[in-house]
Amino acid sequence: MTTGGAKSGTVYIVGAGPGDPDLITLRGQRLLSTADAVFYAGSLVPEGMLRWCRADALLVDTRTSTLEAILPHMFALIEAGKSIVRLHSGDPCLYGATHEQMAALLEAGVEFEIVPGISAFQAAAASLKVELTVPGLVQTIILTRTSGRTGMPESEELAALAAHRASLCLYLSARHARECEAKLLAHYPPDTPVAICYRLGWPDERIVRARLDQMAAVTRDEKLIRTTLYLISPALAATPARSRLYNPTHSHLFRPSQTAT
Ligand SMILES: C[S@@+](CC[C@H](N)C(=O)[O-])C[C@H]1O[C@@H](n2cnc3c(N)ncnc32)[C@H](O)[C@@H]1O
Repeated sequence: MTTGGAKSGTVYIVGAGPGDPDLITLRGQRLLSTADAVFYAGSLVPEGMLRWCRADALLVDTRTSTLEAILPHMFALIEAGKSIVRLHSGDPCLYGATHEQMAALLEAGVEFEIVPGISAFQAAAASLKVELTVPGLVQTIILTRTSGRTGMPESEELAALAAHRASLCLYLSARHARECEAKLLAHYPPDTPVAICYRLGWPDERIVRARLDQMAAVTRDEKLIRTTLYLISPALAATPARSRLYNPTHSHLFRPSQTAT
């Protein structure tokens, strides 16, 4: 566990959150503010996040780089005893191309740690002031994307996932909104609420609520082609419901029945 600043010779893969510079964990901020070098994709991570970096830190924008260019640069810095933060938007475990990076670090024997971040779907739920798991209505969240240039395993096709009618968080799909809508309509009712969330936490954030059968039209009208998260969920129109957890009629380990109030 990391409790102090960035250690020399280590790469910290840090989740930057969706956009707001202060939606990063304390640990992530501490590492950012002590690292010798920070690698970040300027197209995904807002410049404002770099305010946490040391004034003399080496800042490397990787938006036009390849892994083949990034890795030797990192290895040279590690060799020189520097500490590195590799910033990824949202949480690094989701659509961040971190798998191949970690494999290369492992192979090179470079120490690395991961610091989680807030993913776009969590930021969307917070902005919309909704719980995505409403008792009696929906208890499952699916995080997925459509197949663009990155193919999808057949068993994870959107139409198959739609059959669950879960709270579905659709990443990386704005360019394919029309086909996504068609596939989702195979199982969700046409009036299922959708929140179309563009650049959450950035100064030009836009959130449009629509029905599922309007999802593609809104995407087209709003000219959204990137950094858009779709939240498709009956929870967006939920009527008030009670969970058992705080219900006085329900007892549990920490609130036995005689103390229930
Ligand atoms: C390369 S993926 C990175 C996902 C990121 N690791 C996460 O956990 O949110 C980029 C996609 O994530 C979603 N996304 C990331 N940040 C977003 C934001 N601030 N607002 C809306 N969608 C966002 C969009 O679907 C975008 O196309």
